[in-house]
Amino acid sequence: MSNVEIPAGLKELLQGYTVEVLRHRPPNLVEFAVQYFTQLLEGQKPEQRAHKCGSKPEGVALKNNSNKPKKDEEEEEEKDTIKPTPGKYSRRVAVCAEAYNPDDDKDDDTQPQVVHPKTDEQRQRLQDACKDILLFKTLEKEQFSEVLDAMFEVLVKPEDHIIDQGDDGDNFYVIDKGVYDIFVLKDGASICVGKYNNKGSFGELALMYNTPRAATIVATQDGALWGLVRGHSMPSDRATFHRLIVKNNAKKRRMYEAFIECVPLLKSLELSERMKIVDVLGVRVFKDGDCIITQGEKADCFYIVESGEVKIMIKTKTKSGQQNNSEVEVARCSRGQYFGELALVTSKPRAASVYAVGQTKCLVIDIQAFERLLGPCMDIMKRNISQYEDQLVALFGSSDHLKH
Ligand code: CMP
Repeated sequence: MSNVEIPAGLKELLQGYTVEVLRHRPPNLVEFAVQYFTQLLEGQKPEQRAHKCGSKPEGVALKNNSNKPKKDEEEEEEKDTIKPTPGKYSRRVAVCAEAYNPDDDKDDDTQPQVVHPKTDEQRQRLQDACKDILLFKTLEKEQFSEVLDAMFEVLVKPEDHIIDQGDDGDNFYVIDKGVYDIFVLKDGASICVGKYNNKGSFGELALMYNTPRAATIVATQDGALWGLVRGHSMPSDRATFHRLIVKNNAKKRRMYEAFIECVPLLKSLELSERMKIVDVLGVRVFKDGDCIITQGEKADCFYIVESGEVKIMIKTKTKSGQQNNSEVEVARCSRGQYFGELALVTSKPRAASVYAVGQTKCLVIDIQAFERLLGPCMDIMKRNISQYEDQLVALFGSSDHLKH
């Protein structure tokens, strides 16, 4: 047996299957194997084609597919061998949710790094676009730089479908510029549930959970995105999103799952729902006196205090109803408590300012994830919001300070 050669990839192939078996505990192993390997095979075909037609996706323009029936587009794609739009050639079939466990992945760091060359101007724009992306907040400096290297520019036109709900996931996108509508199918109708306005990111869900795209994202004007390829399901060919983001997220889960379990607001959620919150959260550290939220500003985040304390301050009003610059402390939040939900729930500007008291660490969730994941906690938040009014009545004799 000593001179038997083990074919390349066999170990990973069997490992992948074994992980799925352990995870799903199917009653019939053979049936599950047929299903698993068939889907894996189907999932590989489009990727092999992507290699053949080259996968250097710099500055590619997405096809405008708003007015064409889907079938035509796909036939067109089959013929199209020179436009390597990453979003369209690297489709893969979702084997099953969370088919990849980053902890099983031992060879990650030996993979060659993907670098898409950029001009200084592009690099600067990319850095600006990525600096507030929560998914990147837990990356080490070198990892962040590797992510920036691996990103490529995607130019878009009005009505381009960047992502179609139900498709397999290919890229994660960070917005450089442009406005993008978010549509979700409800009872067969496509409903616009929100928009990204010149900042933010999308497309992480399908890549993190190996699920079909959960929403359709359509450009409303000329714009530019930065794409990051998902990578393939085999450890021998894994690209940056998988290697850095998914793997980092596994560490984040371990770090935050115990804490998230004890946040009273999130108690009513299922464990899997709480883990999805962990996956999207970013971490921000503030020094004593730092202003975390400014009264009157537009809101885009929700916060949970992990350590330290924050004080919530409201500008007082003069007798004639004018706001003056002195602020009154209305509340404090410490470990496990949340703030910043009011403006997100009411779609109004921030009703108060929030300052760090001593060194404070907060978990941050952006507005899209807040709306998507915290719906089940809405009743609790609304109940608590009604208590704010009582608080203000006790302090100021009326709750006018909450009204704009
Ligand atoms: P993904 O499912 O990969 O592709 C569609 C993306 O839309 C999704 O990831 C999220 O990043 C983003 N998105 C924004 N709002 C929603 C929403 N309400 N439901 C689902 N996805 C959303």
